Amino acid sequence: MAFDIDMIKKVYDQVAERVNAARELTGTPLTLAEKILYSHLWDGNATSVFTRGKDYVDFAPDRIACQDATAQMALLQFMQAGKDKVAVPTTVHCDHLIQAKVGAEKDLKSAMSSSSEVFDFLESVSNKYGIGFWKPGAGIIHQVVLENYAFPGGMMIGTDSHTVNAGGLGMVAIGVGGADAVDVMAGMPWELKFPKLIGVKLTGKLSGWTAPKDVILKVAEILTVKGGTGAIVEYFGPGATAMSCTGKGTICNMGAEIGATTSTFGYDESMERYLRATDRADVADAANAVKEHLTGDDEVYANPEQYFDQVIEINLSELGPLLNGPFTPDLSTTVGSAMTEKAKANDWPLKVEWGLIGSCTNSSYEDLSRASSIAQQAIDKGLKMKSELGINPGSEQVRYTAERDGLLQIFEKLDAKIFTNACGPCIGQWARYSDPKNAPKNSIVHSFNRNFAKRADGNPNTHAFVASPELTAAIAISGRLDFNPLKDALINEDGQEVMFDEPTGWELPPKGFEVEDAGYLAPLADGSGVDIKVAPDSERLELLTPFEPWDGKNITGAKLLIKAFGKCTTDHISMAGPWLRYRGHLDNISNNCLIGAVNAYNKKTNFVKNQLNSEYGGVPDTQREYKAAGIPTIVVGDHNYGEGSSREHAAMEPRHLGVRAVIVKSFARIHETNLKKQGMLGLTFANEDDYDLIQEDDTFNFLDLDQFAPEKQLTLEIVHADGSKHEIKLNHTYNAPQIEWFKEGSALNLIKKQNA
Ligand code: F3S
Repeated sequence: MAFDIDMIKKVYDQVAERVNAARELTGTPLTLAEKILYSHLWDGNATSVFTRGKDYVDFAPDRIACQDATAQMALLQFMQAGKDKVAVPTTVHCDHLIQAKVGAEKDLKSAMSSSSEVFDFLESVSNKYGIGFWKPGAGIIHQVVLENYAFPGGMMIGTDSHTVNAGGLGMVAIGVGGADAVDVMAGMPWELKFPKLIGVKLTGKLSGWTAPKDVILKVAEILTVKGGTGAIVEYFGPGATAMSCTGKGTICNMGAEIGATTSTFGYDESMERYLRATDRADVADAANAVKEHLTGDDEVYANPEQYFDQVIEINLSELGPLLNGPFTPDLSTTVGSAMTEKAKANDWPLKVEWGLIGSCTNSSYEDLSRASSIAQQAIDKGLKMKSELGINPGSEQVRYTAERDGLLQIFEKLDAKIFTNACGPCIGQWARYSDPKNAPKNSIVHSFNRNFAKRADGNPNTHAFVASPELTAAIAISGRLDFNPLKDALINEDGQEVMFDEPTGWELPPKGFEVEDAGYLAPLADGSGVDIKVAPDSERLELLTPFEPWDGKNITGAKLLIKAFGKCTTDHISMAGPWLRYRGHLDNISNNCLIGAVNAYNKKTNFVKNQLNSEYGGVPDTQREYKAAGIPTIVVGDHNYGEGSSREHAAMEPRHLGVRAVIVKSFARIHETNLKKQGMLGLTFANEDDYDLIQEDDTFNFLDLDQFAPEKQLTLEIVHADGSKHEIKLNHTYNAPQIEWFKEGSALNLIKKQNA
């Protein structure tokens, strides 16, 4: 589907030279991750060795993918960049804004009507700027990317954290904020700290009830939700090559749940089979010609401890099916009696109300075929469903083929609801309750990746457990969380005891994939005539107004908007949930600015002192009053400020509302970059105890901002309400080009100026 074979061949034409140059320079054999990173350097061949976990490096990604919720702000920014076309192949996928309620046909119609404004906007911007557009219902971004665009040895970025799914086809694929994507769309380099490397050696072979999902559930148990931070996880060994390509995708996908930068597998026959099955024989042929460069060196895999920063070994022959949850994806329990005990000890409901199969993690043809083999057994053995079942196929191609082959009809015989090929319940787009906040305590099992409280249905009392699609089907049929399909019998409608046989399925459809309308719209070759319409009174979309450039003067007389106490993630700064609706309207979404941050002076959220009238009020309203009065403000924060999602709204909202500086003990890296990109001052206390000096009624004067320069501290004068003063030093990490972003008002303003 319009994949760019010429671009892929260009990558392969230069891979040997670049990998050899890197090997010579480092003087060591290379992992796959290093080969991909070194062959995608912005400056071409490597000229210096990068230190893992330390050096910032400029890369040249091959592709970009955006989903509808994040694409709105990314494209609104790109529209300001002054470019006629995107510089690298880019696609937009409409998958997040479709609610699952009654079934695919009606749900899709209803989304098309309720979000038509957003879909029309994304379609016309795509058409204008040469971006491939995947219509609502075409599928979930990462499944569609795997089927159409991912290629071994490639590098892509995407405005979604599960972009990492494409590692299943041997890519280094990384989730980023929209501002980063805009840089690459505009033809600029993309910066990343050279990651650390974790090797996972898979021995043995998956069999019976054990699925690729269990591998990543096990890895999550071992590494926990933070264990992969700042690292690429590279899988290798006989267990890896024996696994399907989409199974590898499942494992890489959930690498996001251990905080990994990304995960990947070396090119092998399963990938070749998948490429050929998805109509990309030319990519498979091109990959075969350079295949030694599309996997790690033999020496690396023979002695992994010497080359990876950490090595984990898992014997797949000894791995059993797992259930992870509730509320966190790294809490692992073996099926059966271990779950009985844990559930009783923790008061988790053992009765299962729903089983959900789908999401970008587990919605391939293989997933549906293995789950349907269990559903078919339930029909054949006279079992009745004890809970409800919902299915979200990953793409229209998967759905069409699964329907042609009778798989969906098997689920329907069990009264399953077939929802749209979209994210649906995985992103809370599930109309399960009319009043989720007061809904009852219950358990559900799903094959998704995230199971945080309220994630699927908005009910804080829903205990969500993550499992493979086949185990999800078996547990949904049994209605019990502690059902062990390897040991437990169920009673059928005739009162007989029956047991499930092991699941069976097809890695790829035996009759090949088929689809009538995959849902792809190619952009116009010349989009200059496309008019992008955004209604001036729209509540969901708003064209961006460029941020004001710096006036060259020291910021003086600034007031404190909020001193945030403790953890302040991007969710605290720009909440998700119902605010998803305003992702394309900066002014409206700014009404959630910092409403989740805890005020250090009263430990309340969204309740700060307005120094203009000494009254307390919400953060956005208070800030709007400062802005109206022309008074600059600052935000103060604790450690790791801005951790979590890469959404740039968390930087754009305070900027839009008139905050001038964010001063913290330390930043999460992506958020610090996002602040810099939006022309904001992101600074850290040189002495972190100075955080304690800041009082609610203080006024702030920057004394030497007019001499802002790389590696030079800034001086801040704090004037307390009683007139006493402190002078403190602030650190920053701005290099010379980043200071230009600040001076121009934003990185985008600079791009625009350079293109004028
Ligand atoms: Fe969508 Fe859930 Fe994946 S929201 S992109 S299916 S993680």
